[in-house]
Amino acid sequence: KRIILSGIQPTGSPHLGNFLGALDNWARLQQKDTMTYYAVVDLHAITMPQDPKVLRQSKHDMAAALLACGVDPKQSVLFEQSKVRGHTELGWIFNCITPVGWLGRMTQWKSKIEKSHVSHAQALLETSKSASLKMGLFDYPVLQAADILIYRATHVPVGADQMQHLELSRDIAALFNSSFKSKYFTKPEAIIPPATKRVMSLRDPTNKMSKSDPSDLSRINLFDEPKVIQQKVNRAMTDSVKGISYDVDQRPGVSNLINIYAAVTNLSVDDALKEMADLQNSQQLKQAVSDAIITRIQPIQAEYVKLQADPAYVQQVLKDGAAKAQITANQTMEQVYKLVGLD
Ligand code: TYM
Repeated sequence: KRIILSGIQPTGSPHLGNFLGALDNWARLQQKDTMTYYAVVDLHAITMPQDPKVLRQSKHDMAAALLACGVDPKQSVLFEQSKVRGHTELGWIFNCITPVGWLGRMTQWKSKIEKSHVSHAQALLETSKSASLKMGLFDYPVLQAADILIYRATHVPVGADQMQHLELSRDIAALFNSSFKSKYFTKPEAIIPPATKRVMSLRDPTNKMSKSDPSDLSRINLFDEPKVIQQKVNRAMTDSVKGISYDVDQRPGVSNLINIYAAVTNLSVDDALKEMADLQNSQQLKQAVSDAIITRIQPIQAEYVKLQADPAYVQQVLKDGAAKAQITANQTMEQVYKLVGLD
């Protein structure tokens, strides 16, 4: 039986990259003979400073967003990570076997260090303000491994940017087994959408679209109004080459828009290009792309508005989800404690 787990951080609105790279897949993967667990990973969110009030609201909004995207509580277990005991406990046990060096290699950590202008060693050891990166941020991928393995997930749908974290989860599963002479954990496999569903920033198409980009113009939020979507796409960075052609290296901006068009219309890039054969310039391309995005996400937006009118329902879904997740988490922890000698 397939067991699927994935997670999303409740920091700000989900954007088109989250939707095309992950959430859309989450909904599709809900099938018979598949157990699907979807987590709002609030413990991961607090690896960066969060305002408690805002965090509380963002968690609720993210849960509503997931439901609006098609996560069905009748088929899936939708829950808040912090409401299920065991994630941090298993994370701690993994901490005690995972070499520091494995985490130092994580590119997401390295990019945070670059942004804070301190070296890796300094970031870990220095106590000055410049080295204010937190232990939790460094340790983030170990908690992610615990999220996955506590449900003994076999498959993890994530965007390509999470591949390295998933490799680490596989390594940790194997390391636990060899450390405690067991075969308890199986290595989870990634389900990665095609490269064309990796959505790049509208302002800098060589970087991924990201919630943490300071410029809101860099991303399409799933709940942006149609007018705003149009404005953002219109201002997307393209190039001065004539006509429309697909070339990720030479024309990253135009190619990102073509990818987005293909993804939201469920076409291959080739078929999307055929549909676009009549378009003369990037202005017309942008018009077609924003129209396609709006058409695709309007039903999701309408559903989101409905769900936001019924917060008690969303909270009940999360509560039921946590209760179900807790049963599996307890079973795993019982076995893990036995294997480690903590029973
Ligand atoms: P997060 O919250 O950054 O992103 C959620 C999902 O969206 C995907 N994604 C993208 N896909 C395509 N294009 C983009 N521009 C783009 N930006 C984000 C991500 O790959 C991800 O699938 N560490 C995870 C959360 C997590 C998790 C887990 C995931 C915690 N525990 C266990 C899977 C399993 C994260 O920060 O995702």
